[in-house]
Amino acid sequence: MIEESINDVLFSEKVIAERIERLVEEMAKDNRCKKIVMIGILRGSFMFFADLVRALYHHGIHPIIEFTTMESYSGTESRGVVKVLKEFTTDITGADVIVVDDILDTGRTLDFAIKHLMERGAASVKTCVLLDKPERRILPLQADYVGFKIDDHFVIGYGLDYDGAYRELPYIARLTPKT
Ligand code: XMP
Repeated sequence: MIEESINDVLFSEKVIAERIERLVEEMAKDNRCKKIVMIGILRGSFMFFADLVRALYHHGIHPIIEFTTMESYSGTESRGVVKVLKEFTTDITGADVIVVDDILDTGRTLDFAIKHLMERGAASVKTCVLLDKPERRILPLQADYVGFKIDDHFVIGYGLDYDGAYRELPYIARLTPKT
């Protein structure tokens, strides 16, 4: 078993909460009169998604909530191919969709998700990510709503995992192998 250690905390619980409040103000302004379907990409986005929709409620936005499970990672490496492990069931024909993911890395997951949602009949698809690692981008994609831009570190916590562990941490930290 690989030994690993949690290094620096990049974003504390308080910093994340403050940033989400600003992000939601922006989202609420753009989407006030629309019927929104929000789709969280599991499992990484679960904590971010829950905090987002709670904050949106306080801004008078009441989206339909959906989830889909997609996977492109194994350990700390992107496998390059995105798979839908679990489809959502809501009819999104003609809907304005906001798809939410934990982190935008190579861009493959969101690129795939946008195409998939358009094929399923969405009228528009906006993207929202908590973290953005622009250095790692392979596909030319920018999210509409971004919590924090980060350098190329593997990060854990607040929904993000290393092989299934650390998702429950209420903060985001860097993970580096022990030497
Ligand atoms: P792509 O490359 O498709 O990546 O933009 C998006 C997915 O990759 C995972 N990912 C990470 N997961 N720490 C993680 O726990 C990271 O630093 C990291 N970087 C990418 C994540 O599942 C995301 O949905």
